[in-house]
Amino acid sequence: MGAIVGRSSGAGELRAVAAEAAGCTRCDLYRDATQTVFGEGPAPAPLMLVGEQPGDREDLAGEPFVGPAGRILDAALAAAGIDREGVYVTNAVKHFKWEARGKRRIHKSPNATEVTACRAWLDEELTRVDPDVVVALGAVAVRSVFGKALAVGGLRGQVHELAGRLVVVTVHPASVVRIRGAEERDRALDGMAADLRLAAEASRSR
Ligand code: URA
Repeated sequence: MGAIVGRSSGAGELRAVAAEAAGCTRCDLYRDATQTVFGEGPAPAPLMLVGEQPGDREDLAGEPFVGPAGRILDAALAAAGIDREGVYVTNAVKHFKWEARGKRRIHKSPNATEVTACRAWLDEELTRVDPDVVVALGAVAVRSVFGKALAVGGLRGQVHELAGRLVVVTVHPASVVRIRGAEERDRALDGMAADLRLAAEASRSR
């Protein structure tokens, strides 16, 4: 389980919620996953980053964004001048969904039912972390945070207000990992960093 840090009652409550989520059977994804990968970081926190679901590395480590997508996320946060230790990082879905290809475990996107089943844990995190701004990383996070499927491209570059919370949308870091050309990858990383900067500014103006 990843570390939830802080001495606030929110952090203490969140540690208890994480312990409960470790036994989650709300959908079938727990069957093939190694463990629940709950969020980590401080509670409360000014920013809460929401990804899709743990990948292969995260499933084994029990921590969000510690694999290749995590390295891109770290680079974008650094470019935006944001300390990862100061933000809460989690996923819309807390179990790794995969299919076997030979000896490899290949990521499969969670479906709407799985996203909805896991939304209760995200709600618990939102209540305890009480972020100024939620950053949705990619389409699955958008589906969970907005409660419906919306195009990521159409939501970027703005600060949205949703049920009293500010929300900023950016691409999923794994989409940057997949870009082959260095220039195009750098541009995508710059765009992600700009979105994260927007989120940090919105949080400071709260
Ligand atoms: N992709 C995600 O969406 N989350 C992780 O934790 C890792 C990869």
